[in-house]
Amino acid sequence: MRLLAIETSCDETSAAVIVDGGAVSTVVSSQIKIHAEYGGVVPELATREHLRNFPPVVREALQQAEIEADDLDVLAATRGPGLPPALMVGWKAAQSMAFALDVPLMGVNHVQAHLYSPWFPGKPPVADWESFEPNLSLIVSGGHTLLVKVDAPLEHKILGSTQDDAAGECFDKVAKLLGLGYPGGPEVDRLAREGDPAAFNFARPMLNQPNDDFSFSGLKTSVRYFLEKHPELAADNARLHDLCASAQAAIVEVLVKKTLRAARRERVRCLTLSGGVACNSELRKQLQSVCEKNDFTLRLASPELCTDNAAMIGLLGEKMFKEGGEPVLLEADIKPGMALG
Ligand code: KG4
Ligand code: ZN
Repeated sequence: MRLLAIETSCDETSAAVIVDGGAVSTVVSSQIKIHAEYGGVVPELATREHLRNFPPVVREALQQAEIEADDLDVLAATRGPGLPPALMVGWKAAQSMAFALDVPLMGVNHVQAHLYSPWFPGKPPVADWESFEPNLSLIVSGGHTLLVKVDAPLEHKILGSTQDDAAGECFDKVAKLLGLGYPGGPEVDRLAREGDPAAFNFARPMLNQPNDDFSFSGLKTSVRYFLEKHPELAADNARLHDLCASAQAAIVEVLVKKTLRAARRERVRCLTLSGGVACNSELRKQLQSVCEKNDFTLRLASPELCTDNAAMIGLLGEKMFKEGGEPVLLEADIKPGMALG
Protein backbone atom coordinates (compact mmCIF):
# COMPACT_ATOMS: atom_id res chain seq x y z
CA MET A 1 0.00 0.00 0.00
CA ARG A 2 1.32 3.45 -0.98
CA LEU A 3 0.21 6.36 1.15
CA LEU A 4 1.04 10.08 1.05
CA ALA A 5 0.83 11.87 4.41
CA ILE A 6 0.55 15.61 5.01
CA GLU A 7 1.12 17.61 8.20
CA THR A 8 0.63 21.40 8.57
CA SER A 9 -0.88 21.80 12.07
CA CYS A 10 1.61 24.36 13.38
CA ASP A 11 4.92 25.63 12.01
CA GLU A 12 6.26 22.65 10.06
CA THR A 13 5.16 21.84 6.51
CA SER A 14 5.75 18.13 6.09
CA ALA A 15 4.98 15.31 3.65
CA ALA A 16 5.91 11.64 3.82
CA VAL A 17 5.41 8.60 1.63
CA ILE A 18 4.61 5.37 3.47
CA VAL A 19 4.93 2.02 1.71
CA ASP A 20 3.74 -1.08 3.58
CA GLY A 21 4.47 0.16 7.09
CA GLY A 22 7.69 2.04 6.37
CA ALA A 23 8.34 5.73 5.72
CA VAL A 24 10.32 5.68 2.47
CA SER A 25 10.58 9.48 2.38
CA THR A 26 9.92 12.29 4.85
CA VAL A 27 10.39 15.97 4.04
CA VAL A 28 10.02 18.65 6.73
CA SER A 29 10.25 22.38 6.08
CA SER A 30 10.54 24.14 9.43
CA GLN A 31 9.53 27.77 9.97
CA ILE A 32 11.20 28.08 13.37
CA LYS A 33 13.58 30.86 12.27
CA ILE A 34 10.71 32.97 10.93
CA HIS A 35 8.72 32.82 14.18
CA ALA A 36 11.75 33.14 16.50
CA GLU A 37 11.84 36.88 15.79
CA TYR A 38 8.33 37.23 17.29
CA GLY A 39 8.89 34.93 20.30
CA GLY A 40 6.13 32.50 19.21
CA VAL A 41 4.24 31.14 16.22
CA VAL A 42 2.39 33.88 14.26
CA PRO A 43 -0.60 32.16 12.58
CA GLU A 44 -0.72 34.45 9.53
CA LEU A 45 2.99 33.92 8.82
CA ALA A 46 2.65 30.18 9.37
CA THR A 47 -0.22 30.04 6.87
CA ARG A 48 1.70 32.00 4.25
CA GLU A 49 4.73 29.73 4.65
CA HIS A 50 2.60 26.56 4.41
CA LEU A 51 1.06 27.87 1.18
CA ARG A 52 4.50 28.62 -0.21
CA ASN A 53 6.15 25.38 0.94
CA PHE A 54 3.40 22.84 0.37
CA PRO A 55 3.93 22.19 -3.38
CA PRO A 56 7.75 21.71 -3.25
CA VAL A 57 7.58 19.65 -0.04
CA VAL A 58 5.02 17.21 -1.51
CA ARG A 59 6.86 17.05 -4.83
CA GLU A 60 10.14 16.25 -3.07
CA ALA A 61 8.57 13.56 -0.87
CA LEU A 62 7.17 11.84 -4.00
CA GLN A 63 10.46 12.22 -5.90
CA GLN A 64 12.54 10.79 -3.04
CA ALA A 65 10.15 7.83 -2.83
CA GLU A 66 10.29 7.45 -6.65
CA ILE A 67 6.52 7.41 -6.77
CA GLU A 68 4.12 9.28 -9.04
CA ALA A 69 1.00 10.82 -7.53
CA ASP A 70 -1.04 8.46 -9.74
CA ASP A 71 0.51 5.45 -7.94
CA LEU A 72 -0.92 6.46 -4.54
CA ASP A 73 -3.58 4.23 -2.96
CA VAL A 74 -4.56 6.43 -0.03
CA LEU A 75 -3.86 9.86 1.53
CA ALA A 76 -3.64 10.84 5.21
CA ALA A 77 -3.58 14.36 6.61
CA THR A 78 -3.68 16.04 10.00
CA ARG A 79 -7.24 17.13 10.70
CA GLY A 80 -6.56 18.60 14.17
CA PRO A 81 -5.74 19.78 16.74
CA GLY A 82 -3.71 22.78 15.62
CA LEU A 83 -3.77 26.36 14.40
CA PRO A 84 -6.93 26.67 12.24
CA PRO A 85 -5.46 28.52 9.24
CA ALA A 86 -2.35 26.31 9.24
CA LEU A 87 -4.40 23.09 9.39
CA MET A 88 -6.62 24.39 6.62
CA VAL A 89 -3.76 24.61 4.10
CA GLY A 90 -2.73 20.94 4.37
CA TRP A 91 -6.25 19.63 4.85
CA LYS A 92 -7.80 21.41 1.87
CA ALA A 93 -4.84 20.48 -0.34
CA ALA A 94 -5.16 16.83 0.77
CA GLN A 95 -8.89 16.85 -0.01
CA SER A 96 -8.23 18.30 -3.46
CA MET A 97 -5.56 15.68 -4.17
CA ALA A 98 -7.81 12.86 -2.92
CA PHE A 99 -10.60 14.13 -5.19
CA ALA A 100 -8.33 14.49 -8.23
CA LEU A 101 -6.69 11.07 -7.71
CA ASP A 102 -9.94 9.39 -6.64
CA VAL A 103 -8.36 7.82 -3.52
CA PRO A 104 -9.60 7.73 0.10
CA LEU A 105 -8.40 10.33 2.65
CA MET A 106 -7.79 9.47 6.31
CA GLY A 107 -8.16 12.32 8.83
CA VAL A 108 -5.48 11.85 11.48
CA ASN A 109 -5.38 13.30 15.00
CA HIS A 110 -1.99 14.97 15.48
CA VAL A 111 -1.76 14.13 19.20
CA GLN A 112 -2.69 10.52 18.50
CA ALA A 113 0.17 10.36 16.00
CA HIS A 114 2.57 11.60 18.73
CA LEU A 115 1.06 9.01 21.11
CA TYR A 116 1.95 6.09 18.80
CA SER A 117 5.27 7.49 17.52
CA PRO A 118 7.32 5.45 20.07
CA TRP A 119 6.19 2.39 18.05
CA PHE A 120 7.76 3.80 14.88
CA PRO A 121 11.49 3.16 15.49
CA GLY A 122 14.36 3.33 13.02
CA LYS A 123 15.81 5.64 10.44
CA PRO A 124 13.74 5.79 8.29
CA PRO A 125 10.90 4.98 10.71
CA VAL A 126 8.89 1.78 10.35
CA ALA A 127 5.73 0.73 12.18
CA ASP A 128 6.60 -1.92 14.76
CA TRP A 129 3.14 -3.00 15.92
CA GLU A 130 4.37 -6.57 16.54
CA SER A 131 6.29 -5.57 19.65
CA PHE A 132 3.42 -3.49 21.05
CA GLU A 133 2.67 -3.97 24.73
CA PRO A 134 0.08 -2.22 26.93
CA ASN A 135 1.64 0.98 28.21
CA LEU A 136 1.35 4.23 30.05
CA SER A 137 2.18 7.06 27.69
CA LEU A 138 3.39 10.57 28.49
CA ILE A 139 2.84 13.07 25.65
CA VAL A 140 4.62 16.36 26.25
CA SER A 141 4.64 19.09 23.61
CA GLY A 142 4.23 22.83 23.24
CA GLY A 143 0.46 22.41 23.27
CA HIS A 144 -0.21 19.23 25.26
CA THR A 145 0.73 17.38 28.44
CA LEU A 146 -1.19 14.13 28.66
CA LEU A 147 -0.99 10.84 30.51
CA VAL A 148 -2.68 8.12 28.47
CA LYS A 149 -3.26 4.43 29.13
CA VAL A 150 -2.86 2.45 25.91
CA ASP A 151 -4.30 -1.07 26.02
CA ALA A 152 -3.83 -1.96 22.34
CA PRO A 153 -3.01 -0.13 19.11
CA LEU A 154 -5.79 2.48 18.61
CA GLU A 155 -7.30 1.66 22.03
CA HIS A 156 -6.40 4.30 24.57
CA LYS A 157 -7.92 6.43 27.31
CA ILE A 158 -6.75 9.74 28.75
CA LEU A 159 -5.96 9.54 32.47
CA GLY A 160 -4.86 13.11 33.01
CA SER A 161 -3.84 16.32 31.32
CA THR A 162 -2.59 19.79 32.12
CA GLN A 163 -5.04 22.19 33.71
CA ASP A 164 -3.27 25.22 32.24
CA ASP A 165 0.11 25.51 30.48
CA ALA A 166 1.65 22.54 28.66
CA ALA A 167 5.14 21.40 29.73
CA GLY A 168 6.71 22.79 26.52
CA GLU A 169 4.91 26.09 27.00
CA CYS A 170 6.34 26.23 30.53
CA PHE A 171 9.88 25.60 29.21
CA ASP A 172 9.35 28.36 26.61
CA LYS A 173 7.92 30.87 29.12
CA VAL A 174 10.70 30.24 31.65
CA ALA A 175 13.24 30.68 28.83
CA LYS A 176 11.62 33.99 27.88
CA LEU A 177 11.82 35.21 31.51
CA LEU A 178 15.52 34.31 31.43
CA GLY A 179 16.03 36.28 28.22
CA LEU A 180 16.63 33.19 26.04
CA GLY A 181 15.41 32.77 22.46
CA TYR A 182 12.35 30.94 21.09
CA PRO A 183 11.65 28.06 21.31
CA GLY A 184 13.29 28.07 24.72
CA GLY A 185 13.01 24.38 25.64
CA PRO A 186 16.16 23.23 23.79
CA GLU A 187 18.12 26.23 25.14
CA VAL A 188 17.07 25.56 28.77
CA ASP A 189 18.04 21.90 28.24
CA ARG A 190 21.47 22.91 26.90
CA LEU A 191 22.27 25.45 29.64
CA ALA A 192 20.95 23.18 32.40
CA ARG A 193 23.67 20.62 31.64
CA GLU A 194 26.22 22.84 33.37
CA GLY A 195 23.93 23.98 36.19
CA ASP A 196 23.01 22.79 39.68
CA PRO A 197 19.42 21.45 39.72
CA ALA A 198 19.27 21.92 43.50
CA ALA A 199 20.45 25.57 43.47
CA PHE A 200 16.91 26.99 43.64
CA ASN A 201 13.75 25.32 44.86
CA PHE A 202 10.88 26.07 42.46
CA ALA A 203 7.27 24.89 42.92
CA ARG A 204 6.33 21.32 41.93
CA PRO A 205 2.61 21.96 41.22
CA MET A 206 0.13 19.11 41.78
CA LEU A 207 2.95 16.65 42.49
CA ASN A 208 1.26 15.28 45.59
CA GLN A 209 -2.33 15.45 44.42
CA PRO A 210 -3.94 12.01 43.96
CA ASN A 211 -4.76 12.45 40.27
CA ASP A 212 -2.98 12.27 36.90
CA ASP A 213 -3.34 15.96 36.07
CA PHE A 214 -0.65 18.59 35.75
CA SER A 215 -0.38 22.34 36.19
CA PHE A 216 2.63 24.33 35.04
CA SER A 217 1.50 27.96 35.20
CA GLY A 218 2.41 28.19 38.93
CA LEU A 219 5.98 27.13 38.23
CA LYS A 220 6.37 29.83 35.60
CA THR A 221 4.96 32.35 38.11
CA SER A 222 7.33 31.23 40.85
CA VAL A 223 10.29 31.72 38.48
CA ARG A 224 8.94 35.18 37.59
CA TYR A 225 8.55 36.32 41.23
CA PHE A 226 11.97 34.95 42.05
CA LEU A 227 13.58 36.88 39.18
CA GLU A 228 11.74 40.07 40.18
CA LYS A 229 13.36 39.77 43.62
CA HIS A 230 16.79 38.78 42.25
CA PRO A 231 17.11 40.39 38.79
CA GLU A 232 20.92 40.19 38.94
CA LEU A 233 20.88 36.36 38.79
CA ALA A 234 19.79 35.94 35.15
CA ALA A 235 22.63 38.24 34.06
CA ASP A 236 25.23 36.10 35.87
CA ASN A 237 26.25 33.30 33.52
CA ALA A 238 26.87 30.62 36.18
CA ARG A 239 23.60 31.45 37.96
CA LEU A 240 21.73 31.36 34.62
CA HIS A 241 22.85 27.74 34.22
CA ASP A 242 21.63 27.02 37.78
CA LEU A 243 18.29 28.72 37.10
CA CYS A 244 17.77 26.60 33.95
CA ALA A 245 18.77 23.40 35.77
CA SER A 246 16.49 24.18 38.75
CA ALA A 247 13.43 25.06 36.63
CA GLN A 248 14.00 21.99 34.45
CA ALA A 249 14.36 19.80 37.57
CA ALA A 250 10.95 20.98 38.81
CA ILE A 251 9.22 20.23 35.47
CA VAL A 252 10.93 16.86 35.04
CA GLU A 253 10.32 15.71 38.61
CA VAL A 254 6.57 16.29 38.31
CA LEU A 255 6.40 14.55 34.92
CA VAL A 256 8.45 11.52 35.96
CA LYS A 257 6.87 10.96 39.39
CA LYS A 258 3.29 11.31 38.18
CA THR A 259 3.96 9.01 35.20
CA LEU A 260 5.54 6.35 37.39
CA ARG A 261 2.74 6.54 39.95
CA ALA A 262 0.09 6.11 37.24
CA ALA A 263 1.98 3.18 35.67
CA ARG A 264 2.16 1.33 38.98
CA ARG A 265 -1.51 1.93 39.74
CA GLU A 266 -2.59 0.84 36.24
CA ARG A 267 -0.31 -2.22 36.49
CA VAL A 268 1.44 -1.69 33.17
CA ARG A 269 5.09 -2.57 32.68
CA CYS A 270 5.86 -0.30 29.75
CA LEU A 271 6.25 3.49 29.56
CA THR A 272 6.33 5.52 26.35
CA LEU A 273 7.35 9.14 25.78
CA SER A 274 6.60 11.43 22.83
CA GLY A 275 6.10 15.07 21.74
CA GLY A 276 8.60 17.93 21.41
CA VAL A 277 9.60 17.96 25.11
CA ALA A 278 10.48 14.25 24.79
CA CYS A 279 13.74 15.59 23.25
CA ASN A 280 14.67 16.90 26.72
CA SER A 281 17.82 15.09 27.80
CA GLU A 282 17.07 15.17 31.54
CA LEU A 283 13.54 13.84 31.05
CA ARG A 284 14.83 11.00 28.86
CA LYS A 285 17.59 10.20 31.38
CA GLN A 286 15.30 10.18 34.42
CA LEU A 287 12.61 8.08 32.74
CA GLN A 288 15.32 5.65 31.65
CA SER A 289 16.55 5.43 35.23
CA VAL A 290 13.11 4.82 36.84
CA CYS A 291 12.33 2.21 34.18
CA GLU A 292 15.57 0.35 34.93
CA LYS A 293 14.88 0.46 38.68
CA ASN A 294 11.30 -0.76 38.27
CA ASP A 295 12.01 -3.25 35.51
CA PHE A 296 9.75 -1.45 33.03
CA THR A 297 10.24 -1.34 29.28
CA LEU A 298 10.76 2.20 28.00
CA ARG A 299 9.90 3.22 24.42
CA LEU A 300 11.12 6.71 23.55
CA ALA A 301 9.99 8.34 20.32
CA SER A 302 13.07 8.98 18.18
CA PRO A 303 14.10 12.69 18.16
CA GLU A 304 13.03 13.08 14.47
CA LEU A 305 9.50 11.97 15.43
CA CYS A 306 9.31 14.11 18.60
CA THR A 307 9.02 17.31 16.59
CA ASP A 308 6.20 17.63 14.08
CA ASN A 309 6.49 15.46 10.97
CA ALA A 310 4.29 13.70 8.40
CA ALA A 311 5.86 10.24 8.88
CA MET A 312 4.01 9.69 12.17
CA ILE A 313 0.76 10.93 10.54
CA GLY A 314 1.22 8.48 7.66
CA LEU A 315 2.24 5.46 9.75
CA LEU A 316 -0.80 5.94 12.00
CA GLY A 317 -3.06 6.79 9.02
CA GLU A 318 -2.06 3.53 7.34
CA LYS A 319 -2.85 1.54 10.49
CA MET A 320 -6.26 3.24 10.79
CA PHE A 321 -7.01 2.49 7.14
CA LYS A 322 -5.97 -1.17 7.43
CA GLU A 323 -8.02 -1.61 10.61
CA GLY A 324 -11.11 -0.48 8.74
CA GLY A 325 -11.18 3.15 9.86
CA GLU A 326 -13.55 5.28 7.84
CA PRO A 327 -12.01 7.65 5.28
CA VAL A 328 -13.41 11.18 5.61
CA LEU A 329 -15.92 12.69 3.23
CA LEU A 330 -14.28 15.21 0.96
CA GLU A 331 -16.43 18.05 2.31
CA ALA A 332 -15.39 17.31 5.93
CA ASP A 333 -13.78 20.23 7.75
CA ILE A 334 -10.69 20.63 9.92
CA LYS A 335 -11.05 20.12 13.69
CA PRO A 336 -8.76 22.66 15.40
CA GLY A 337 -9.80 21.55 18.90
CA MET A 338 -9.87 17.81 18.06
CA ALA A 339 -9.68 15.79 21.29
CA LEU A 340 -7.55 12.64 21.52
CA GLY A 341 -10.29 10.24 20.39
O1 KG4 B 1 5.66 18.65 19.52
P1 KG4 B 1 6.23 20.00 19.20
O2 KG4 B 1 7.29 20.11 18.12
O3 KG4 B 1 5.12 20.99 18.79
C1 KG4 B 1 3.85 20.94 19.33
O4 KG4 B 1 3.02 20.14 18.79
O5 KG4 B 1 3.64 21.67 20.33
O6 KG4 B 1 6.81 20.59 20.59
C2 KG4 B 1 7.44 21.86 20.67
C3 KG4 B 1 7.80 22.11 22.14
C4 KG4 B 1 8.32 23.53 22.39
O7 KG4 B 1 7.65 24.05 23.52
C5 KG4 B 1 9.81 23.31 22.66
O8 KG4 B 1 10.37 24.29 23.53
C6 KG4 B 1 9.80 21.95 23.31
O9 KG4 B 1 8.85 21.22 22.56
N1 KG4 B 1 11.13 21.31 23.25
C7 KG4 B 1 11.88 21.07 24.34
C8 KG4 B 1 13.09 20.48 23.89
N2 KG4 B 1 13.00 20.37 22.52
C9 KG4 B 1 11.79 20.89 22.16
N3 KG4 B 1 11.64 21.29 25.65
C10 KG4 B 1 12.61 20.93 26.53
N4 KG4 B 1 13.79 20.39 26.16
C11 KG4 B 1 14.07 20.15 24.86
N5 KG4 B 1 15.23 19.60 24.50
ZN1 ZN C 1 3.22 18.13 17.75
